[in-house]
This record gives sequence, C-alpha cells and structure tokens, in this order.
Amino acid sequence: MQAFNAPDSLALIAAPMVNQSDLPFRLLTRRHGATLAYTQMLSPHLLLNDQDYLEFHLRDIRAEFDGSTGLERPVVVQLHGNDPDILVKAARVVQTSCDGIDLNLGCPQEHAKDGHYGGYLLGKADWPLVEQIVSSMSNSLSIPVSTKIRLCEPSSLTPLLGTRLAAAGSSWITLHARHVNAKRRRAGAADLNAVKILKDTLVAEGFPNVPVISNGNVGTWEHILENRKETGADGIMVGEILLDNPCIFENATPDPVLISLEYLELCKTYPTASMTAIRTHIRHFVEHQCARRPWYPHFRAALNVCHTVNDVEALLRGKVVRWRGKGGATPLRSMAGKGMLGSQAEDDLEDAQDVDLSESVLF
Ligand SMILES: Cc1cc2nc3c(=O)[nH]c(=O)nc-3n(C[C@H](O)[C@H](O)[C@H](O)COP(=O)(O)O)c2cc1C
Repeated sequence: MQAFNAPDSLALIAAPMVNQSDLPFRLLTRRHGATLAYTQMLSPHLLLNDQDYLEFHLRDIRAEFDGSTGLERPVVVQLHGNDPDILVKAARVVQTSCDGIDLNLGCPQEHAKDGHYGGYLLGKADWPLVEQIVSSMSNSLSIPVSTKIRLCEPSSLTPLLGTRLAAAGSSWITLHARHVNAKRRRAGAADLNAVKILKDTLVAEGFPNVPVISNGNVGTWEHILENRKETGADGIMVGEILLDNPCIFENATPDPVLISLEYLELCKTYPTASMTAIRTHIRHFVEHQCARRPWYPHFRAALNVCHTVNDVEALLRGKVVRWRGKGGATPLRSMAGKGMLGSQAEDDLEDAQDVDLSESVLF
C-alpha cells in the first residue's frame, strides 16, 4: 500500500469520471501505473442526507483506504457544490477514508448549470465564493484540498484564478484546458499553452510548490511525455483513453480479453461497481481494439443482455475467444496452452479452428 506523497503521487492520475471511476477500475489503473486515482464527483448533499448513498460510497473508498487491497492508494474524493459549510461537513465525513478532497470547478453539464456548481463557478463574480470554499475546506480538514478547473472566460483570466486558488489553500490545481460548454464537453483540443502559462504564473507569483496537473489531449503514452515537456506540468491526468486502455501509464496495450477478465476479477472481489458501469468498461476495453471486427456488433448485443459479472465472463471466455480465435487474433493464440484463459476458453479456441464464424455469431 502506498500513501499519498506529493509530488510523486501526482505524476500519473486517473481522472474522475461519473459512473466509470468505480473501485475495481481505480484498482486496475493503480495496478497498471496510475500514481493516484480520483473518485467520480460526489454530491455533498447526498453524502449528508442519503444514507444509502453515503454507505455505498464509503464502502467504495474504504476498501481502498483500509489497505486490504494492496496497491490501491492514494485516492482523492471529488466533491461538487457551492456551499462552503455543506462542502466542509461532507468532506469531514469522508476525510478519514481518502487522501485528499478535490473541488470540481469544471463540470460543464446542464445539471451543474442549473445547480450553479462545477464549471459554472469559474466566472469572476463567483471567485470570492470559490476562495471561501477552498479556504474553509483547507482550514477545516486534515487532508489536502485540491481544485480541478477548466479555462475561464476569457482564457487569460485562468492564471489569475489559479493564483487565487493557490492562495486560498488549493494544494494542487488540475487544469482541463477547455472552456465550459454543456453541448461540446470535450470537443476540440485542450489548450496546453494555457497549462504552461498557469504553471509559470504560479511560480512567478510565489507558489512554486503548488503543483499543476495538465489534463487533456492524451491518446498515447508519447502524448503524456510531450504534454509534460510542453506544459512543465507536475503531473498528467488522463480520462477517456484510460477507459479504452487502462495500461496507458505503463506504455502498454493489453489484450482486451485479458484486461477485461482482470477487471472482472476485481469486480468480484470488490463488488461496488454497478452492472451498467461494468458493461461500459468491458465495452470500452473490447471496442478499443476490436471495433472493426465482424463479430463486434454481436458482442455489443450479447454484452447488453449480461446481467451479472459471471454472464460477462462467460461471454468473454466463450464466444469472444472463439470469434477472435477464428479471426486469427495472435495474442489470444499465444495465450492458449499457457492456462491464461482458463480451460474452457482454451477448448473453445481449439474448437474455433473447425467452426464457421458465420455460424458462431448466431445466438
Ligand atoms: C465519462 C466521463 C465522466 C466524467 N466525470 C467527471 C467527473 O465526475 N468530475 C470531473 O471533474 N470530470 C469528469 N470528467 C472529465 C474528465 O475528468 C477529464 O477532465 C476529461 O475527460 C478530459 O480528459 P481526457 O481528455 O483525458 O478525457 C468526465 C469525463 C468522462 C469521459
């Protein structure tokens, strides 16, 4: 088990992602090179008023924090909201079960607009409120408080906000360098130059020890290296591509079936992910490399009617192995005979030599 240790822990971060930052996925990313994983954004109001919600999320983060899982810490819990007192109260509830609390100042969705939180607090008029939230939390909590922001309007205000957040007590600042847009949430390239300007400004304004995390534009390991070089950021946060390839921080591309099975094992050991989240993860893992395979639409259809982890496992070990075997998927062939797929799957793979794919995709 690794404790939080800035700046090392901030080097390679698994981003907060609603319905996708479940404990098994966080563990998977940690096992494969992430130095820190965030939870999805949580509602302080629900943490304080909905017992089921509280218990679910405490179970989700405590297993990790107890250290019983081996490689899982550190974990940062992200909260959204706009009320300093409520945020402090909610953070107190989880602070003994995590390594840091992050304030979401980037959510672009309509519900954030309606509730006036996330990226809708980036306007200058709300800066005093945001400073109050950050200073109240950092003064009241026993763990670090960080912030995750998007670009201000205009972008040139972003370093000024960053400086104020640092002065208010934000221990590090993550910049997802896109503007807030409810309809085009991640469209267009992130402005990495804005990350560099934020970093340079913090150093110049007397906050050289407040790390800046760059978020956006990562599709490969090389992008991570280039991003760091270009921005001077202390760490890189990765979201979407990590869903496709949870081994990107190892500069590796896993076999989609093996990484899926590894994830499912974690789901069995730590049953905190919903079936919707599980199916979505498996779809991403397989789609990333197999979207153009003739059998992929059949896989999607079969996955959609999986109701348990065992159903998904059976689909992967059975039909998917067979389809891929028939298609001449080299990695799977090299796994066969080594016990990596389980005996049933290996039998299926052998059988596949004799089965016509057009028949095997019929349900
Ligand atoms: C499915 C999904 C859910 C997300 N949920 C959150 C969230 O809960 N909190 C947050 O700060 N950002 C959230 N984001 C944004 C990511 O954390 C990240 O900032 C964004 O995807 C850009 O990084 P990327 O280009 O590496 O994906 C989410 C993104 C995705 C794809």
